Amino acid sequence: MPVEKFFSVVNPRMVALITSISPDGKPNAMAASWHSPLSHNPPLYGVSVSPRRATHTNITKNKVFGVNLLPFELTKSIHICGRISSLRREDKLELAKLEISEGPELGVPLISQAYVAIECEVVDSRVFGDHTWFVGRVRSVLAEDVLKGDIIDLTKVKPSLYLGSERYVTVDPESEREEVV
Ligand SMILES: Cc1cc2nc3c(=O)[nH]c(=O)nc-3n(C[C@H](O)[C@H](O)[C@H](O)COP(=O)(O)O)c2cc1C
Repeated sequence: MPVEKFFSVVNPRMVALITSISPDGKPNAMAASWHSPLSHNPPLYGVSVSPRRATHTNITKNKVFGVNLLPFELTKSIHICGRISSLRREDKLELAKLEISEGPELGVPLISQAYVAIECEVVDSRVFGDHTWFVGRVRSVLAEDVLKGDIIDLTKVKPSLYLGSERYVTVDPESEREEVV
C-alpha cells in the first residue's frame, strides 16, 4: 500500500463538526475526522484543518472553534458540511438543516442538534505538512444526559464514524464489554 494512503486505513474515526465564525460574523461548520482530546489539565482539544477551508481563515482570525458531535441519524448533515465549502455556498447550514445556538462562555456558534458541543479558545497552532493543528482550551461543554456513570450511554447516543469516501458507520451497543485487569 502506498504511504500516501495511510489516512484511509486508520478509519473509521469519529467525525465532528467544527464550528467557527467567518470574518463577517457568520457561523460556519465543517466536518473533521482529524481531531483529538490532548490534555486533561489544562483541558485541551486539537483539530487539524487545511488552509484551503474557510474554517481555517475563521479560526485563525477569531481564535475560537466549536467541536460538535452529531448523532448518526444526522450523517447527511455532517456529509454536507464535509463536501460543501461555505466559500461556495453561503447557505450551507440551511442546506444541512442545522440550527445554531451561541456557546455560553465564548459565544462560539454551536450546533443545537449536537449531543455534545464544546467551546474552545485557541491557545496555540502549528503547521504540520498541508494542515494546521489548532490547539484549543476547552471553555465549556454542553452534553445533556449522554453519560452512564463516566461512559457514553450507547442506548441514548449513536455516534457517527467516517469510514472513507462517502461512507459512515455507527457502533453496535451489543458489542460493549467490560475488561478488568
Ligand atoms: C468525513 C469528513 C471528514 C473531514 N475531515 C477533515 C479534517 O479533519 N480536516 C480538514 O481540513 N478537512 C476535513 N474534511 C473536509 C472539510 O470538511 C471540507 O473541505 C469542508 O467543505 C470545508 O468547509 P469550509 O470551507 O466551509 O470550512 C473532511 C470531510 C469529510 C467528508
